[in-house]
Amino acid sequence: MKAVASKPTPPATLVIFGGSGDLTRRLLVPAIANLCNDGLIGNDLQIIGIGSREGDDAMLRELLDEFAPKGACWDSLRSRITYLAGDFTQPAIFDAVKDKLGEGNAAFYLAVAPQFFGPIVESLAQAGLMEETGSRFRRVLIEKPFGHDLASAQALNARILKVVDEAQVYRIDHFLGKETVQNIMVARFANAWLEAVWNSRYIDNVQITAAETVDVGTRGAFYDATGALRDMVPNHLFQLLAMIAMEPPNDFGADAIRSEKAKTLRAIRKPTEDEAKTDAVRGQYQAGKVDDRKIKAYAKTDDVAADSRTETFAALKLYVDTWRWAGVPFYLRTGKALAARDTEIVITFKPVPMALFRDTPVDDLPPNRLVFQLQPNEGVDLGFMVKKPGPAIQATTVSLDFAYADHFKIGGRTGYETLLYDMLMGDQTLFQRADQIEAGWAAIQPILDAWAKGGPEPYKPGSAGPAGADELLARDGREWHQLG
Ligand code: BG6
Repeated sequence: MKAVASKPTPPATLVIFGGSGDLTRRLLVPAIANLCNDGLIGNDLQIIGIGSREGDDAMLRELLDEFAPKGACWDSLRSRITYLAGDFTQPAIFDAVKDKLGEGNAAFYLAVAPQFFGPIVESLAQAGLMEETGSRFRRVLIEKPFGHDLASAQALNARILKVVDEAQVYRIDHFLGKETVQNIMVARFANAWLEAVWNSRYIDNVQITAAETVDVGTRGAFYDATGALRDMVPNHLFQLLAMIAMEPPNDFGADAIRSEKAKTLRAIRKPTEDEAKTDAVRGQYQAGKVDDRKIKAYAKTDDVAADSRTETFAALKLYVDTWRWAGVPFYLRTGKALAARDTEIVITFKPVPMALFRDTPVDDLPPNRLVFQLQPNEGVDLGFMVKKPGPAIQATTVSLDFAYADHFKIGGRTGYETLLYDMLMGDQTLFQRADQIEAGWAAIQPILDAWAKGGPEPYKPGSAGPAGADELLARDGREWHQLG
């Protein structure tokens, strides 16, 4: 994330492990082509795709054609894409990469299953591919999931950091590539009035939601071993929480921002054994419909155990134990096959003192609410109290809303543009540092432990999740912001 005007990336080779896979075809390569169209990628960027299927450069280029934005940039970029077929569990492929690469800058993107992250980084280092000599950089990008729990994340970090430097590691959380997520920081720190009320004196509670209408689809094998909590919370939702709850960094430098975020994540109170039972709710969708789409029960999904206890919905109540946030509950929820696609952060302010209105017909003033809408229809909405016209003092809420689309040209982006650009420029701000990852896992470890027993509550597709999620808030006298 650059604080200054952008210039084109330096000459480099992007080596993608999983070069013919879905992520590369749909998101990574189109993002590079978009950057090229923006004049941000020089004509000296080379791409090497590595995959297990037999094939040559022409095969890969044809595969990539499908999702790439067409035009002069793509024609030129396409001619600089080459393919290497091989098995990345064997040393031979790393020798082949070395021969092909030569001496220049390189970034290795691990778009592969997580069990290969550690071994590939070790093999790259063993082959001398991670050595940074003179001004040449060698970087590795690692997709999620980074670990399966606290112990495995710590072990993976240790394994990687034994052979490469933290400054060479770019752990991806694709939520940080979303323009509206990055906007939270600007909204907070560039608006004096907002920062002034951004604390427990004025804020009653924060709700963070990532609801999806899609079901698990063809990802049964991955999802059944993962579940909603691991898939979305310590990474995506905690990144949103950190953006909302962090203290102002001293500057826009990567480490200043990442240190503030890590500090915030470390401040998430670890639930006790009892709290992990009462303050965390899990659900699993049954058979039903989302709109007109038929959804089969999660347990009937291909590659999912018929008696699966994996959750497809998770809701949590957490506290961030800092001076600023003492006593303010953060409610988080995420799930599949829900009523609406809705990624949002809702800040509910405390009510005003009622004394002023005691002799008027105003007997109930709803609290002000600020909503960061991240998906779909990106924007910000502030509920503002106004007087209804007429002789009596009557108040009502109107919406001061800002839609991104009304002011800026958006769309046609894959969400990986900024991440890839920043990585090539050596800016780690939007990438997770080892301590952030571990702080995220540490915060949910008590819940993972508690959930080793028992099972999820069923919920209907097209609903807002299981009844337990509503009860979690009802116990505190609150309600979830309505989905959609
Ligand atoms: C991924 C999860 O990291 O994020 C998926 O593995 C989820 O299960 C996806 O669907 C959500 O991302 P987005 O950008 O579509 O909100």
